[in-house]
Amino acid sequence: MIVVRTISQVRQAVADAKADGRAVGLVPTMGALHAGHYSLIEAACERGLFVVVSIFVNPIQFAPTEDLAAYPRTPESDLAGCRDRGVAVVFMPEPSEMYPRPTLTVVDVPQLGQTLCGASRPGHFSGVCTVVTKLLNIVQPDFAFFGAKDFQQATILRRMVEDLNLPTTIVVCPIVREADGLAMSSRNAYLTDAERRQAPALRRSLEMAADLVRRNRPTSGEVVEAILAFLGGESPDGIVDYVEIVDPESLSPVENTSDDILIALAVRFGRARLIDNMRVDAKPGRS
Ligand code: PAJ
Repeated sequence: MIVVRTISQVRQAVADAKADGRAVGLVPTMGALHAGHYSLIEAACERGLFVVVSIFVNPIQFAPTEDLAAYPRTPESDLAGCRDRGVAVVFMPEPSEMYPRPTLTVVDVPQLGQTLCGASRPGHFSGVCTVVTKLLNIVQPDFAFFGAKDFQQATILRRMVEDLNLPTTIVVCPIVREADGLAMSSRNAYLTDAERRQAPALRRSLEMAADLVRRNRPTSGEVVEAILAFLGGESPDGIVDYVEIVDPESLSPVENTSDDILIALAVRFGRARLIDNMRVDAKPGRS
């Protein structure tokens, strides 16, 4: 495994691999790698790809009020974890390498990026789309791997790649969870012990809602009410940012729950903002 910090080095490594006939997989991350990230890396390695992992805490996707400076950084263990799993190249650029000058060009998918998490994080998804476009142009991978934990992000990026004819296939991998159901996230490190005990209620509220949908075909409003009541009882310290029922592709709110739907939520515990989601397809004969 090699660790490179410049765009020209990563391009050279990828060019050499392609000259050897290798297909290339990119796993973009912001580091502080955990089992969720490693599941993407393993999915890429299992396909026999030449795997490039980028580790870059992208400043333009953080609002000035957000946790850019505090974002966890664990480069030593990240590199060991990548090495153990057979990663070929880790690309760890400095911000000055990615943004030698302030970027005047941005990529945005406003119709998908202003709802759900985008409503409370203005500009966030444009920062994500811009850096991922840069990474895809720098690495030129055949495949890029993203997690369903950030369902909105994956949906936006898939649409961006399609709209812009980028020659990369987006692969979306399932959510990896702690034993008690909490979705793994670098931001879980911000939770106090008391918050950590309440946080698995997010997943349980989604399971409860999925059951309700399959049994009763409630309206979306009824599902949201049921989730809010559940969270009110089970995670009283969590402040709900949103609970929404949307179409998984358009991310627009849906009224009835008898189709393929996404139940998505975000809850703040102190300085940690946790997200989770569950896709439920209540059409007859489907899970
Ligand atoms: P980051 O939060 O580091 O996540 C990197 C990738 O890991 C994302 O695709 C995310 O969905 C996936 N991931 C995180 N936790 C996961 C879990 N519990 N299960 C499955 N996958 C999980 O997302 C970003 O970085 C950035 O926005 C990035 C795409 C790198 C652009 O800067």
